[in-house]
Parts: sequence; C-alpha cells; structure tokens
Amino acid sequence: MTLITCTKNKTQPQHLAQSSNLDSPPSSIQSQEKILTGDRATGALHLGHYVGSLQQRVQLQHQYQQTILVADMQGLTDNGHNPGKVSSNILNVVADYLAVGIDPNLTTICLQSAVPALAELSMYYANLVSISRLERNPTVKSEIQSKAFGRSIPAGFLTYPISQAADITAFGATLIPVGDDQLPMIEQTNEIVRKVNGIAGTPILRECKPLLSHVSRLPSTDGKSKMSKSMGNAILLSASDKDIRQAVRAMYTDPNHLRVEDPGQVEGNVVFTYLDAFCTDKAYVEALKTQYRAGGLGDGKTKAILESCLQEVIRPIRDRREELMADKAQLVAILKAGTEKARDDSSDVLNNVKSAFGLNLF
Ligand code: TRP
Repeated sequence: MTLITCTKNKTQPQHLAQSSNLDSPPSSIQSQEKILTGDRATGALHLGHYVGSLQQRVQLQHQYQQTILVADMQGLTDNGHNPGKVSSNILNVVADYLAVGIDPNLTTICLQSAVPALAELSMYYANLVSISRLERNPTVKSEIQSKAFGRSIPAGFLTYPISQAADITAFGATLIPVGDDQLPMIEQTNEIVRKVNGIAGTPILRECKPLLSHVSRLPSTDGKSKMSKSMGNAILLSASDKDIRQAVRAMYTDPNHLRVEDPGQVEGNVVFTYLDAFCTDKAYVEALKTQYRAGGLGDGKTKAILESCLQEVIRPIRDRREELMADKAQLVAILKAGTEKARDDSSDVLNNVKSAFGLNLF
C-alpha cells in the first residue's frame, strides 16, 4: 500500500442559503446577513477549531460581511486570577486566524476588550436577564460543573451569555457559525433581542440564527472528549512534526485490535475519525476501512498514513504562522485597525439601545 498525499479538506458550510459566487469580490457582497464569531483568547487554536470553524470562516468572508472577535474579556470569565493566560494568547489567536487564510481586508478582526460598546451593552442587557435564566443555560450549567467552581462561580462567568449577546447584537450579526454547544447562547441572545425591541417599541436589534458546520467536533486524541484547549489533548495549528507524530502515535484506536491480522473496529477509532476529517481522498479512506475491518491492516500503518496527512495540513499553516509571529508589531497593527472599525460599526447599536432605555440626554 502506498502512502497517499492528503490535501486540505474543504469544509462546506451546512447551509449557505444566500451563497452566491464564491469568487465574487467583497465590494459585490449583496447579502444583508452579517456574520459574527469569536474565540476565547485562552490558548492557541487547534485542529478542532480548524475543521469545525476556521475553514468555514475563510469561505464565508467572501460571501458576507464578517466580524471575528478575539474574546479576551470572555477569556477572563474563568481566568480572572490568571489573566496572563489571556493576555499572552491574544496575538497567538490573531496569528492563527491569518495563518489559515482569514484575510483582514475581508474580515474585521477585533479585540473584544477594546470595543467599549460591548461591555456597555452587556450592562444594559444584564437588567433584562434573571439569574435563574442564566443558571438554566445548559452550556453554562455543564461548564460550571466541569470547572468545579463550587460555590464561587464568578459573576462574569455566569453572565457570559449576556456578553455574548452584546457581541452578536453590537454588529447587527444575523448568522453565527457555531458548534451545537453554543446553541443555547443564540437562544438567549434572541430572548434579549426581543426584550430590547419590546422596550424600544421598534425592532432596533436583529435576531440571529446559528450556522452549523456539517463537520461534527473532532474528538480529542485520547477519544475521551472533544478536542479542547484546556484539556491538553489537542493538536495545535502550530504543532511541530514531532508534536504531530507523538499525538498520532498516542491516539486511541480499537483496544481489541491486538494483532495486525485481527479484524478491527473503525467506529470510535480516533485515527479513522481524523482520516475522515483531513484526508481528501475519500475512496482511499473507505478502502482502508474495509481492510481494517477485515483484518490485515495494523494500527502502525494507519497512524503513519494519518501522520503524513496531518503534517501536510499543518505544515503550511505553521510556517505562515511563524512568519507572522516574527513581526508582532504587524499583528498588533492589524488587530488595532480591525478594532477601530469595530468601534465604528457598533456605535449606532449602542446609541439605539441607550435611547430605548431613555438614556439619550446627550
Ligand atoms: N464563546 C466563544 C468561545 O468560547 C467565543 C465568543 C465570544 C463568541 N463572543 C462570541 C462566539 C459571539 C460566537 C459569537 O470561543
């Protein structure tokens, strides 16, 4: 069997109802839909982000006005006593964006903490949301359990869905590319939108809908959970060839597949899940699966195939990222320019919301 070369898997967004010509220049963007996404700046981004959302964002920027937030304030909601984890990762995240092909000429990349309207809107919205409603948010609920805050849940953490509603509404965003764990955030945002519009007596805020990626979230390399920055089981976009090799070698396969000639199970076998996600030659992956199921294909071999495939995906991203990180001043300048635009873009919504509450004396 020969090693095939796997090129980048092109992720197609699940529904692109308004999608037009992928190649149309940004000046011809006609869609009224606006996109907003973000990432907590708590670590460099990984392959899970790449297949789950970054590839999609690269495509969407040609079709819609897109804003991407480096969510540093949200990163602090569970790192208030360890702020270095957030501040030290801001440029990492910006470099990751640019390295995968998010283009600052097409996408507004901005820093959440430097757009005051976001914090201000959060304070107004907070008056329309009850503590019990926040406690019922399933995502927040499960995060609170897994983070073991005990009785010391930071108020900022409990209320981060409010801040996320501020992020979304500030830019008039209507389409939010998210994983299914973020659906409760969208629901809560729309509740806030309806309340504000009710108070204003006119629809000053737009409701939003999720744009779900058809790619389900990548499992962690140990197969026990989803790939996550905080769990140390992720393959970063900056991973070296050696990091990739080690991660793939340690990957969970089929524990009952002891000898090469044994029939093996493909379902739940992380190596095959990753081959499905990253290897573009689908027929080849199917042939491997058939052979693995029948017996006669060893884990060493499947892992070697995956390793070369992942190296091909990551190497160009990593190289580009290294170049970008070598000029931090340029990264800061890009982020600053995007942030200034974001300040402009959000000022009308803030004024309208303040007016809805009658706070427009001057
Ligand atoms: N919650 C997202 C994350 O954990 C980050 C985020 C902040 C976000 N504001 C947002 C996502 C608004 C979508 C829309 O990475």
